[in-house]
Amino acid sequence: MTPPRILTGQVLCFTRSPFQGDPAGSARLDEAVLIENGHISRTGPLADLRTAAPDARIERYDDHLISPGFIDAHAHYPQTGIIASWGKRLRDWLETYTFPEEMRLSDPAYAHEIAHRYLDLTLANGTTTVATFCTSHAHSTDAFFEAAQSRNLRAVAGKTCMDRNAPAGLLDTAQSAYDDSAALIARWHGTGRLTYAITPRFSPTSTPDQLSALGALWAEHPTCLMQTHLSEQVEEIAWVKTLFPTARDYLDTYESHGLLGPRGLYGHAIHLTPRERARLAEVGAALVHCPTSNTFIGSGLFDMAARIHDGHRIGLATDTGGGSSFSMLRTMAAAYEIGQLSGTPLHPAQLWWCATAGSADALHMSDSIGTIAPGTEADLVAIDLASTPAIAQRAATAADLWSALFPTIMMGDDRAIAQVWVTGEPQR
Ligand code: GUN
Ligand code: ZN
Repeated sequence: MTPPRILTGQVLCFTRSPFQGDPAGSARLDEAVLIENGHISRTGPLADLRTAAPDARIERYDDHLISPGFIDAHAHYPQTGIIASWGKRLRDWLETYTFPEEMRLSDPAYAHEIAHRYLDLTLANGTTTVATFCTSHAHSTDAFFEAAQSRNLRAVAGKTCMDRNAPAGLLDTAQSAYDDSAALIARWHGTGRLTYAITPRFSPTSTPDQLSALGALWAEHPTCLMQTHLSEQVEEIAWVKTLFPTARDYLDTYESHGLLGPRGLYGHAIHLTPRERARLAEVGAALVHCPTSNTFIGSGLFDMAARIHDGHRIGLATDTGGGSSFSMLRTMAAAYEIGQLSGTPLHPAQLWWCATAGSADALHMSDSIGTIAPGTEADLVAIDLASTPAIAQRAATAADLWSALFPTIMMGDDRAIAQVWVTGEPQR
């Protein structure tokens, strides 16, 4: 058993959602956090924690922010090698860059290499939990879960299911998607810190039969998450209309096949109809905002303030590699910029909450991760608030935590991540 640890710093403890009431008053800063057996025991003055755990090792990060690790609620680890590919919108981008690269993961050794490369990059950026699509090869999900397990990460993944409108080498069938997903659920779901997400890529690449089979599978395994894409681009919505002529709308292509529920994660969800918005809110499903992807692929502006007002559950995500960064700092910056274009600047507390507690809520993991609260797992980051000269000179004039943090949100990168702990164990 590892000895207890005390981390000193500015320990960020949200006391409520920063979307309810004054955002600036939604968190308190404690002096230290005590970690025992991989979990947070308590926070408070250093002297109190020393008394509580006299044999604890003390690690000092006094000028740093100690935060929950970032949680990326939607990503594609197989797209690591094609991130930042130029010049295409969604369908062309899939056909030109994404599908050929996903085909390369038919080689299990390459899938293993990319899974580890991806987790090296996300951990370096302070992300301690991701929910990722894999490829349609079942072994790509094994490769990811094995890589996450070897680092003791809490992680979500699923085999991407596609039985039409993709290259033959990536197609499964309704039956094989069901069988392979069921076998992966049996192997991985609830094993240690791992959670399975049933993963139809999006309606255009699944037949109604496949969507039905996956809806039935979800009903048999209701503790699984379900992740997919919804209403990302207007051309995509028109395509869905031609493929599902009797559906009421895009969401109905999922809903009518058993693929709408509170544990559903709907990536992008930008261009929703009033019925779709109302149903998603009523069910308590999560919309996952992917701001760098939405600007990079040219998809549109997700109206975070309106969706929060409507009562939606919302996660924040990179959407690597449609998204152009592995960093949740860069992702928060893009969410801020999109908020500005939609007429609502998000407060730094709101941005930070989305990247931690908000994404944890989207994944139904608030009891385990995303906050620094007694009993939760000690997946933490130490943020250097002066990681570059440009950020340091700006933070030096800040009057409070949020104005000290905002320059790091807007200009920070992996240099701001001074340390990462996974279940209390430092990663470097
Ligand atoms: N829609 C279907 N597949 C994808 C994907 O891989 N990335 C993005 N951004 N959208 C998608
Ligand atoms: Zn995606």
